[in-house]
Amino acid sequence: MKLSKDYWENRYKSKSTPWDIGYVSTPIQDYIDQLKDKNISILIPGAGNAYEAEYLWKQGFKNTYVVDIAKSPLDDLKRRIPAIPSNQILFNDFFNLDETFDLIIEQTFFCALQPTLRDKYVSKSYDLLSANGKVVGLFFDFPLTKEGPPFGGSATEYRNRFKSKFKIKTLETSYNSIQPRANKELFFIFEKKNL
Ligand SMILES: C[S@@+](CC[C@H](N)C(=O)[O-])C[C@H]1O[C@@H](n2cnc3c(N)ncnc32)[C@H](O)[C@@H]1O
Repeated sequence: MKLSKDYWENRYKSKSTPWDIGYVSTPIQDYIDQLKDKNISILIPGAGNAYEAEYLWKQGFKNTYVVDIAKSPLDDLKRRIPAIPSNQILFNDFFNLDETFDLIIEQTFFCALQPTLRDKYVSKSYDLLSANGKVVGLFFDFPLTKEGPPFGGSATEYRNRFKSKFKIKTLETSYNSIQPRANKELFFIFEKKNL
């Protein structure tokens, strides 16, 4: 049950969603605001209520996709933005996807997975990205323990996990985090290597 599809669905149904900040997080908003090409394909994995997708859509990024194993938040996104094509709202397991994207935006999905899945996340992200594609977003910066989700980690761990498949362009304490997460998260830009 722990971290299964039912577990996540029940968290939404019981409104036990402390991770849900209710709007696009500021570091991700600032990153989106400097993107020039609005035609790129973007995936938000473990999107939940997907405020990042809503923001992207409203900024004109019409090639935005979300995936989640819980259906309730996806239904909610569709209610909020009926214009998003249904085939861009993927009710699926991230690890079962086989499309290709130019950008993956990470926001409290990695930390929600069992830590044993971290290397699988790295290789799946690599496989889902087009040449020179990027994973960009936020990772928590607090010690990894058995307690979670959210499961923590450190810059050293994240660098070591991603560096064989990705160029580490940025990995630093986020300067524009929302207040409750100040100094507790790292903003990163990892670019797919041509292997
Ligand atoms: C902590 S929540 C974060 C949701 C959203 N990113 C946010 O910041 O509000 C983690 C999300 O990942 C989803 N999830 C967990 N495992 C998944 C998987 N294997 N594939 C797709 N989604 C998954 C859960 O259903 C949940 O919506």
